[in-house]
Amino acid sequence: MDRLAIIGGRPLYGDIPISGAKNSAIKVMVATLLSEEKVSLSNVPDLADVRQLMRLLENHGTIAERDGNRLSLHTPKITSRVAPYDIVRKMRASFNVLGPLLAREEEAKVSLPGGCAIGARPVDLHLKALEALGAKIELDEGYVIASAKGGLKGAEISFPFVSVGATEHTMLAAVLAQGKTVLQNAAREPEIADLADCLNAMGAKIKGAGRSTIEIDGVTSLGSVAHSVLPDRIETGAYAMAVGIAGGEVILTNARTELLGAALSSLRETGLEIEDSERGLRVKKNGKKLQAVDIVTQPFPGFPTDLQALFMAMMTTAEGTSSIKETIFENRYMHAPELARMGADIHIDGQLATVRGKDRLKGAPVMATDLRASMSLVIAGLGAEGQTMVSRLYHLDRGFENLASKLQNVGALVERVPETD
Ligand code: EPZ
Repeated sequence: MDRLAIIGGRPLYGDIPISGAKNSAIKVMVATLLSEEKVSLSNVPDLADVRQLMRLLENHGTIAERDGNRLSLHTPKITSRVAPYDIVRKMRASFNVLGPLLAREEEAKVSLPGGCAIGARPVDLHLKALEALGAKIELDEGYVIASAKGGLKGAEISFPFVSVGATEHTMLAAVLAQGKTVLQNAAREPEIADLADCLNAMGAKIKGAGRSTIEIDGVTSLGSVAHSVLPDRIETGAYAMAVGIAGGEVILTNARTELLGAALSSLRETGLEIEDSERGLRVKKNGKKLQAVDIVTQPFPGFPTDLQALFMAMMTTAEGTSSIKETIFENRYMHAPELARMGADIHIDGQLATVRGKDRLKGAPVMATDLRASMSLVIAGLGAEGQTMVSRLYHLDRGFENLASKLQNVGALVERVPETD
């Protein structure tokens, strides 16, 4: 298992290409199960999560071919209606095959995903929505056993709170349902609009994706499509913050400001200069220290929970005290004790973190517990004095394509090294 060695203190100059969004790619990949025809996806990042999902789709009968960042997926026939625990437990989003399997086969058995490091993450909203569409659901030995004899039926569903996964999953199930489905209080993340764009190009009738009310008129089948995955807004924010902590000027090619939502204004408030340019986002840190800024994580277009750990890392050396409130997940501050090992001054009280900016952090061996937390340690290491060694790199391999080489290309001193013990 590799580690990442980082020598901090080098400003970053040059281009960083922003990859396709992991959290969009894996949803459109699941959507291809709804069609008997071949679907071609481009701008698909080469990530452990994408490879993992390919394995699951192959288990259901998908013929998958990869050529660089293009992926062709063809499922002429569903060969298994069972999504086993061993695959689903490794990646929560794979639970979303339940809707498409049910829509196409009228029955499915899918393992419950279980909790994870950032919180309990139940799937009750997913299951209630599928029941509203007419599915009969039983739980048995850790599996959801679902059936919808005669097909799913459109319904009006109002989510009690915003859930990205439940919105996407219900959309996937409803496109082939009979009649109209209306989703109220739907999540508005850009990845949801991207999924709807892909489904609509396959022949679905979805209106309003990206807004709180989504209307879906069921169709009887979906066809083939070539779809390009949208750029990764979390990777965009991560590299912008790398410049924030390390200094320099970088162009994030392919990135788009409108995908950043409230993160854009929070980043600008710190003093970072961020502008759209012909080739992407230009991010520049002028010579001054960044200013402390308060954030509260919220569903899109609010400040994304997936950038909270990274923002905290940046605030550890800002001018002043920053207050950070995590409202989406109940246990998403596990990076704080690791940042403290590098000298950060962070006080956690329930949902609230108070970060007092220091002059500089000091490199240290650190260990991460989840994908975004790992990236916050990398960001911290880029600004720290001396060497930071981030272990458990497999977390980063799940969600950041070519991380080490992208950073090396803009002058960072980072290197993957094999684990010694
Ligand atoms: C997606 O997770 C993302 N994952 C997460 O990114 C992201 O942090 C999250 O949305 C919020 O933006 C993917 O897209 C694969 P939710 P998801 O349903 O869909 C609770 C990453 O690092 N909830 O919006 O699982 C839930 O526990 C990952 O890339 C229920 O209670 O998030 C959470 O507290 C981490 N019951 C809140 O809702 C349910 O049935 C929001 O979760 C569903 C969710």
